[in-house]
Formats: sequence, structure tokens, C-alpha cells
Amino acid sequence: MIVLGISPLDKDANASIVVDGKVLFAAGEERFSRRKQHSGFPALAIQAALAATGVAARDIDAVAYPFLDADTESRHIEQALRANAQFESGFRPPALDPLLAAAKGRVPQRTKPIDGLAEPNQRFRKGVAKEAFYRLAGATDAMSRRAAARLCAQWARVASKEHQHWQSELTRGMRELGISARLERREHHSSHAANAYHASGFDSALIVTLDGYGSGLAGSVSLGRAGRIERLHGLKFPHSLGSFYEMVTSSLGFRPDRHAGKIVGLAAYGDPAVLSDVLLSRFDHSEPGDFRIYQNLNVYLSRHLAAEFPVVDVAAAYQTVLERMACRYVEHWLRATGTTNVVLSGGVTANVKLNQRIHEIEGVNGLFVYPNMGDGGCGTGLALSLSWPGGVRDSIRDVYWGPEFSEKEIDAALDAARLTRSKPANLAAFVAQKIHAGQVVARFAGRMEYGPRALGNRSILYHGREPQVNQWLNKRLGRTEFMPFAPVTLWEARERCYQHTSGAEHAAEFMTVTFDCTSFMKSTCPAAVHVDGTARPQLIRREVNPGYYDILKEHERLSGSPSLINTSFNMHEEPIVCSPADAVRAFLDGRIDGLAIGPYYVENPGQR
Ligand SMILES: [Fe+2]
Repeated sequence: MIVLGISPLDKDANASIVVDGKVLFAAGEERFSRRKQHSGFPALAIQAALAATGVAARDIDAVAYPFLDADTESRHIEQALRANAQFESGFRPPALDPLLAAAKGRVPQRTKPIDGLAEPNQRFRKGVAKEAFYRLAGATDAMSRRAAARLCAQWARVASKEHQHWQSELTRGMRELGISARLERREHHSSHAANAYHASGFDSALIVTLDGYGSGLAGSVSLGRAGRIERLHGLKFPHSLGSFYEMVTSSLGFRPDRHAGKIVGLAAYGDPAVLSDVLLSRFDHSEPGDFRIYQNLNVYLSRHLAAEFPVVDVAAAYQTVLERMACRYVEHWLRATGTTNVVLSGGVTANVKLNQRIHEIEGVNGLFVYPNMGDGGCGTGLALSLSWPGGVRDSIRDVYWGPEFSEKEIDAALDAARLTRSKPANLAAFVAQKIHAGQVVARFAGRMEYGPRALGNRSILYHGREPQVNQWLNKRLGRTEFMPFAPVTLWEARERCYQHTSGAEHAAEFMTVTFDCTSFMKSTCPAAVHVDGTARPQLIRREVNPGYYDILKEHERLSGSPSLINTSFNMHEEPIVCSPADAVRAFLDGRIDGLAIGPYYVENPGQR
């Protein structure tokens, strides 16, 4: 059975072709349109998928779309918000004023500079008038209730309108591409659950999905056993850890859909004890295995906190409370089911530090996180479950599921830019020498990675032996990050570099979890170690990607370090490069010294 998976059109639309439970092609529209997190029908990705797989539009048996029809989604939203209004009228959290006054007394003095912040205890000031409004609408009883109700109603109006809009876009897009196969719409969280479980290779696992919103829910727990998935619990919207984290991301001046990772990075500099009790006081745990969050969509509280407290302490509190609440939820369902493997999907599980905490829960033996954990991945999840008759699937080996380009196409892109190239007999050794000599080298090879991370085929590589690398390389690449660059590490060196990897090694092949670093890692690759001593590695096995692995192996021979920095190959705020022409354009932007593309090595003419 041939299924075309289309992920939700509202953000990061992806397309995939899945045949009898095997993903033949999957990629995000952003890579082709060059618009980051592309919203809209993924026509270019579908055309690339059909061209790469040789499937014709008329051959498609079904189209999988991981949302219900717009009217049903609107009904779910209304029901969820009615239930929330009832909860909020009955729940009485402790008064905020005394909690906030006590929190003020816990703010530490800081003098050590933090890269990216003007001063270490920087607050997010917005002016006297706005700040007075945030305090009233976020932190006083009567006004915050009115503000929360208004924000909920506003969210519902926008979401319902968008579902209608994307529904007609989906129908129009399919018609324009001549796709007449039946459209299979399914409940959102079941598609997140399917991608995590079926890709994990576990026979038995607790499947946990956590995101912002989907079909009335913000999360779910299911039991996966012998290839079948049974839903145990649905976490009702708006009690959403995704929305909870979106509040702090936007209140600290970042885009919630793109920059949640910056909050994870900032959090490591802060003291979670300053504000955690303020946030925890808003959680209701009266139902076992469930929770509710009081006024969760009231962004004015987080804006008030951001104006009154150091941003690092605000970030630390949100991160810590997210970890505690998610772990508590997972622990309950682990106890209830007696399972020891956990698989994760949904946008919240892009939080690599949260995933580390879940892996560290006592009794968790195995952890897997779906590599394209956000909504971009759930069209593939649904296509997988529709096209697969059942039974446990092998775990995925890699996610090199995007397009690849011929040597002729690479030649054409290099010729168009009049770039001279060499063809080293041993390209991997040649690249390793350049990196060891201090050059920043981009690698373009093979099929493009599916999902948000560059995993070697569209990556920029650099040695990690100086901690200062983060500052100058981020500046050179035009990025602001509070998290250091992530490392790629030889598979066989994982225990030399990281602690407690056991059971999460496969997840770490896709950069989805952090580990505490060993002293060996801290001394040989300090640029990839965060201030809290963790790193988010990609572990690389030779059979998965020999050309990439060999660079690491040769670099280890030269330097003694089995790790390199691996960051995505893109221009500032652009999607990761897709074609040879994109690669050449990003390369000529002048920030990279060398380009290993196909069989060639190209020195940057601007860097000589
Ligand atoms: Fe989702």
C-alpha cells in the first residue's frame, strides 16, 4: 500500500512516501521553498518525493493527514475550553504577591558575563506602562481571570479559522497535483504516537506524546505492545506543556515556533529555585496520572516575570518545572503499566534536556525519541500506521530520507559559480586534515536528513578543542545561541565521552537527548560542553554513514579527540541547504573555509 503522508500545513509542512510500512522518502517543504518552517501545501516536497521514488500521483492509495476535519477540530477546541473554564472557576492557587516577594529575595548576585546577554542579571524590560499592565493582567486575581478567558477565546477563534483555511488548502493542493486518492484524516496524537513507537524497534514501550495542541489534546500516553498501540490517557488542552513553554519563549523575546532551544540553553545559567514554586503553585494534581495548569494561556504572567526577574532565572524555572511535571506524568504511567521502555514524540520532546531527565527516571531501561518529533513528523507517522498491517517493526537505522543529487548536478552548481575543485583520493582524510588545521568545513553528501537536525550530510564541521569557538563561530555564522554547538562522536567512544548512555544510544544517533559529559570529553572537546556539563551528541556508526564516520576517525587519529562540532549547513535563519546550488550559495556567503561536496573539495575563494 502506497501512502502519501502530509504533515499539518500550518507549520513545517512535510511530505513522505511510505510503502507497506517503509519510508521511501520524507522531507520538509522548507528545504525546497527556502522558507523556514514553511506553512502551506508542500507541493515541492511532494513532487520531489514522487520523482525520487518513481511513484506517480495516480499510484497513491491514500493520503494521510494528522488532524480531523476542521469542524470536528473546532468542536474539540470548544469542549476543551469549556472544561477549562469550569476548572478555573473552581481552582484556587495561592496568592502570587507573597510568593513573588519571597522570590525577589532569592535572586543571586551575578558578575560572570553570559554570552548574548548585556549583563548576567538582565531582565526583559518593556517600559513602565506595559509592565504595569503585565502585572495587573498576569498577577492579580480578578484581572488575570478576565485576561486568561479572553486569551483562550482568542486562541480558539484563530485556531478554528486556521483549521478551515488549511482544510481548503489541502484539498486545493491535492487537486492541483492530480492526487485523487482517498484522504485519511486521523486524530493528531495517534500519529505522533505511531511514528515514535514504530520507529523505535521496541516490542513493548510506554508511548508519550507532548505538544502544544492537537485534536483537543496536548499530550497522550499509550501502551505499545507487539506492534499495536492502545491509548491509556489523553492530556486535555489547554493544560499543555507546549503552551507553557511557548509562554516563556515569547516573553523572553524569542519565537516560540523556532527558538524554544534558546530557553533550554539560557536555563542552565539560572537558578531554578528563584521562581519554580511560583510556577508549581499553578499546577493541579488532584487526578492521578493527569494535571491541569491554571491560566496556562495567560502570557501576561510570564511577561511580568520576565520584566521583574533575571531572564536566566525565569528560563531556569520554566525548564525545571517542565521537567518535573513531565517526569511525574511519565513516572505515574510507567508504574501503572510496568513498562521499562519509553518512546517520545511531539514538539515538547525537542527539549533535549527534558529527554535526558526522562531517560534518568528510575526503571527506564530504553529511551527513543522520534527524530522529527514536531508536527513535521506526524504525517509520516500516520502514513506508517496506515500502510503497515501490524507487528513490531525494526528500529529505523537512519533518517537520510530526503533527495540526493548526482555528480553531474554538483558539477553544474560548481561551474555556475566558477569554483575550482580538487578530487582528493581520500576525501575523508583530506577533510579531517583541514579541520585539524583549524578550518571550518561544510559537508554536502548523499541524501538529505529528514527532521530538524543536520546529521552529517548537510553539516558544518569544526574541531571543538577551544571553548571560545562558540562565540566566534556563532558570530561568523550570524547566530545567537545560549547552548554550545553540538558534537558528533564516534559510536565506540560514547562511554569515554558521556555518562549513562545505556538505553539511549539509538536516540543519540539523532541528537535528541543530552548526557552528562565525562572529564575526557570536557578536556578534549570543551566547545561542545554546556555550562551545566552536558552535551547533545550525535553518535555515528560507520555502517550508517561511512564517508562522515571516516572524517571523525581520521580526526581522532590526528588529534586524539573522537568528537567534532556538527552544526547545520545553512545561511543565517535560512533552512538547511537542500541542493548543490543552495550549498554553493551558503558557502559563498563567506563564512566557511572549505566545502566537501560529493567527491570534491572546494577552497572558499573569499577566505584565501
Ligand atoms: Fe503535534
